[in-house]
Amino acid sequence: MRLEPLIGNTSIIQTPFSTVTLYRMGDGQAVLVDSGDYPRQAFLDLLEQEGLRVRAVICSHLHPDHISNNPALIKRWGTEIFAPALDIAPAQDMFDMIEHSGTNPAWASIRPVYPITPIPPDQTALTIDGTVFPIVQTPGHSYGHVAAITPDRVCVLGDAMMSIPLIRQAKLPYMEDADQAIESMERIRQTDCALYVAAHKGVTPREDRDEMVDENIRIELRLYDLFRRVMDKPRSRKDAVDTFMAEAGVLPTQISWYVHHSAETRLASLIRAGELREEDGMIYPGRNAPCQRL
Ligand SMILES: [Fe+2]
Repeated sequence: MRLEPLIGNTSIIQTPFSTVTLYRMGDGQAVLVDSGDYPRQAFLDLLEQEGLRVRAVICSHLHPDHISNNPALIKRWGTEIFAPALDIAPAQDMFDMIEHSGTNPAWASIRPVYPITPIPPDQTALTIDGTVFPIVQTPGHSYGHVAAITPDRVCVLGDAMMSIPLIRQAKLPYMEDADQAIESMERIRQTDCALYVAAHKGVTPREDRDEMVDENIRIELRLYDLFRRVMDKPRSRKDAVDTFMAEAGVLPTQISWYVHHSAETRLASLIRAGELREEDGMIYPGRNAPCQRL
C-alpha cells in the first residue's frame, strides 16, 4: 500500500478493493474522501510513515467498504467524520443486514455508531479549516450519496459511477434508486474536473468523462429494458426478480442480499413509474408504456 500522487496536493491510496483519496492540507494534516474497504493496520501505518494526521474524512456514503478505517482514525487522531445526512439512519439497517447475513465479519466491528457531521442534501461545499471542498449531490447508489471535489479539481465519485473498464464488466450495479442515479450521473457530466476517481479502481481524465457517464447510464437503461422483457407476462414478485437476475447474468452463487436488493429496487422504480403494477403478490404490465417514461 502506498500513496500515489495525482495532482498538486491530491493523492490516492489503493487498498485491495477500493481507492481512498487524500488531500494534504499543510502542517501534516490531511482530509480523506472515504477510508477504505476493510479495517487495516497497514493503512494507518502508511499515514503515520508519511507524517500525516487525518483531520477529517468526507464519506461519499456509509456503505461498509467506504468507511472501514473510520473508527481507527477517530481513535488515533480524533478525526471528524462527514457523511450524507440521508445515509445516516439507513446505514444502521444495512449493518443489521450485514450482521444477520454474516456477509463479512470484519464489517460488523465498524458500524458507524460514532459522531457524524451530517452533509445536508442541499449542501454544495464543505469548508474544513478554511479549505473548500465542493460537494456534488449524487443520490441513487445510496439515499444521500455525495461526490467531493478537492481543491486540485479532482472529483471523487465514490460509488456514484464506475470507471469505464469496470462498468463494462458490471452485471447489476447496486442502486437504491436507479432513476436518481442517472440524474446524478448527468450532474457529474456538468462538472469540470481534471480527474474523476471511482471508488473501486479507475482514475478517469476529463476527456473521457462523457464516455464514462454514457457507459454508466447505458447499463442502467439496459437493465430497465431487460426487466421490461422479463415482464412480457404476469409473474409472481419472486419469479420476476429471480428471472431478472438470471437474465442479467448473475449466477446463483453470486446472489447475495445486496444483489437481490439491486433487483428489487429496479422493480420498484418500474412500479413507481406505472410501467408495472403489483396486485396480490403478482406483477402485471402497468398503465404507462415504456416510451412515456424514458
Ligand atoms: Fe457503495
